[in-house]
Amino acid sequence: MTDLISSFQNQFGHLPAYIAQAPGRVNLLGEHVDYNGGPVLPAAIDRAVYLAAAASSDGKIHLFARDIDQKVSFSMADVENKVDLEGRPLPGWARYPAGVAWSLQEAGLEVSGLEVLYTSEVPIGAGLSSSAAVEVGFGVLWQAKGGWEIDQLTLAKICQRAENAYVGVSCGLMDQFASACGVEGHALYFDTRSLDWHPAPLPDGTAIVIADSGIRRSLTNSAYNERRNSCEEAVTLLQRYMPGIQSLRDVKTIEFAAYSPYLPPVICKRAEHVVKEIARVDFAVSALNRNDPQAFGALMFASHASLRDLYEVSTPELDILVDLARNLPGCYGARLTGAGFGGCTVNLVQNDQVTSFIEGLKAGYRQTAGRKAQVYLCKASQGATAERA
Ligand code: GLA
Repeated sequence: MTDLISSFQNQFGHLPAYIAQAPGRVNLLGEHVDYNGGPVLPAAIDRAVYLAAAASSDGKIHLFARDIDQKVSFSMADVENKVDLEGRPLPGWARYPAGVAWSLQEAGLEVSGLEVLYTSEVPIGAGLSSSAAVEVGFGVLWQAKGGWEIDQLTLAKICQRAENAYVGVSCGLMDQFASACGVEGHALYFDTRSLDWHPAPLPDGTAIVIADSGIRRSLTNSAYNERRNSCEEAVTLLQRYMPGIQSLRDVKTIEFAAYSPYLPPVICKRAEHVVKEIARVDFAVSALNRNDPQAFGALMFASHASLRDLYEVSTPELDILVDLARNLPGCYGARLTGAGFGGCTVNLVQNDQVTSFIEGLKAGYRQTAGRKAQVYLCKASQGATAERA
C-alpha cells in the first residue's frame, strides 16, 4: 500500500485521497452458463487490482496504468466518442475505466474528475477476470468519490454494461458480480437469472489451488461470441418443441435428451454442455450442503470433460494439468476455469496435501508439457472496497 501511495505521489505530485481494491475471481463450477441464465459458483480471490486516486483540478479524468507505464486523459464530455483530450482513440486498456465512467453516467450517477494510478496482481488473459477487477475497482472508486449509494450487485451490472456496450465483449455477469460481492472464505452461489445469491462455504478441510498453464489465446473474444450465438440458436430451435423456453436454463436434462436429436451436431454439443453444467451446479450445491468434497470434485472433473469435448474451449495444456491433478494424492477435483482457450485450472485439494500437490503439479507439468506452471494456493476473499486514504 505504501508503494501504491508513493507511486501516486511520484506521478501526480501530491498524496491520493482514495484507495480502492477489487479482486479477480476463480469459478469453481458453472462455466459458460451465466449468459444462459444458469447458476454459477465463483469466489473472489486474493489477487486484486489496487487503485489510488484524488480529485483532479481540471475536472478531467487522468489515468496512469503503472504496470504498462502508460497514461491517458479524457473528459466526460467526450467519453461516448472513446477519444482522449487530443481527440485520439482511447487505447484498449483505457476503455475499461472509460467504459465504467460512461456506464455510470448512463445510469444517472455522477462521475467526477479524478487522477488515478492503478496496478494489478491479476494475470491478464488467464481466466481470472483481470478486466472485471479493473472495472469494479473504478466503479467503487467513483462511488466513494461521488457519495452515491448503490448496492454492489447493481454496481456489478453497471460494470458489465461497460464491458458489453463500450468495450464490446458480450460477457455475462459472473465476473463483475464475484469481484464486487466476494465474501472472505466462501464461494458464492449466484443465480444469474433471478440474481439471488448467497455465500457457500467450501467443504471442511479443503483448499482452492489455481494452476496457470501459461497459455494465452488472442482469439478468445470471437470464439466466446460464437459459443454464445450457438446457445441462442439452440434455444430458437428447441422452441419448436418447447415453446415456453426463454433460455437453456429452462431445459431439463431429460427434455434435452428427447429433443437433442433434432439439433445440428455442433449446436447440440454446445447446448448439451450448458444444460448438463447447470444440472451439475445444482448437484454441487447439495454436495456443499452435506459437506461432501468427493462429490463436488467429481462434478468438477465432469465439467472439465464437457468443456473439452462438448463446448471445445480447452487446450492440450489445460487437459494435461487436469489429468496430472487427478492422479495426485489429495485432489478431489480439477477443471479449467473461466472462458477457456488457455489460462488456468482450479483444483479442490485436501488441506493437508496442498504443499505436495502444488509441487507434484509443477513437476508433472514441466515433464509432460515442457512448460512452467504458476501454481498457488488461493484464499477466497472479500469483494471490492474503496476508502478515504
Ligand atoms: C468469461 C465471461 C463470464 C463467463 C465465463 C465463462 O469469464 O466474462 O461472463 O461467461 O467467461 O463461464
